[in-house]
Amino acid sequence: MKVTVVGAGAVGATCADNIARKELCSELVLLDIKEGIAEGKAQDMMQTATLLGFDTKIVGSTNDYSKTAGSDVVVITSGLPRKPGMTREELIGVNAGIVKGVCENVLKFSPDAIIIVISNPMDTMTYLALKSTGLPKNRIIGMGGTLDSARFKYQLSQHLGCSPADLNAVVVGGHGDTTMIPLISKATWNSAPVTDFLSKEQQDKIVKDTMVGGATLTALIGTSAWYAPGAAGAALVESILRDEKKLFTCCVALDGEYGQKDICIGVPVVIGKNGWEKILDFKLTADEQAAFDKSAAAVRSMNDVLATL
Ligand code: LAC
Repeated sequence: MKVTVVGAGAVGATCADNIARKELCSELVLLDIKEGIAEGKAQDMMQTATLLGFDTKIVGSTNDYSKTAGSDVVVITSGLPRKPGMTREELIGVNAGIVKGVCENVLKFSPDAIIIVISNPMDTMTYLALKSTGLPKNRIIGMGGTLDSARFKYQLSQHLGCSPADLNAVVVGGHGDTTMIPLISKATWNSAPVTDFLSKEQQDKIVKDTMVGGATLTALIGTSAWYAPGAAGAALVESILRDEKKLFTCCVALDGEYGQKDICIGVPVVIGKNGWEKILDFKLTADEQAAFDKSAAAVRSMNDVLATL
């Protein structure tokens, strides 16, 4: 198995590091447009191999896509990250051109690859990847909801005083501070509804803190987060390469599911060797469906910007 991670910034490098540690593939290519950065980080990671005990070969390259040939999965993290005070949406102008170019180059050498999009604004970049490549929809996966759901479980665990591993909780909708929808009514602690153990006030706080999870970290760190975004990308790669058929919220093309068409947005999907294999119908309440429709309208208006670039 072979994986390429495009973009050797903090998210891309962390994603690659997780993939290597888990030995998900025999060869991993890390690519960046900036001279030397991918080669340097790849070597640095390779020098951890004997310490951590993995034997994935990591190759770094400055924009030589021929090195990525025959990749089974390509993770795209390229583009600018957001700075404190910026929304993910403000990145559209610069990142759209980058993501489109990366998709073209990747497919020249890996026509059968499954593509995971992490670059922001993630829903629109996923839509752009789908439209510009014309690939079958199951091979284009946006990562956002996987990360947002992990952050949701973290917030819940802090209030419940429990292990996040015992929680089932998903965030659907767009990957934006105001567009994501943490489905607290459906979240469970093992099989018990979490709402049985949380006051209304706590529930509202958990939902709010989850929605601004990325912005909170950007304000603290001074740039966009990377540990959880990188790990979320690697978790999707793992479910694909090991055909685990795990359920993640991912940004995928809808064709009538959740009442939406011609849009890529976060819904619960099964991830396996064919990419996203199935959308699960979580039977939203009327309020949740209204929030989903509002989120879809916001994502759609961002997608409309693509035509003006
Ligand atoms: C975040 C970025 C990766 O939410 O969108 O941290």
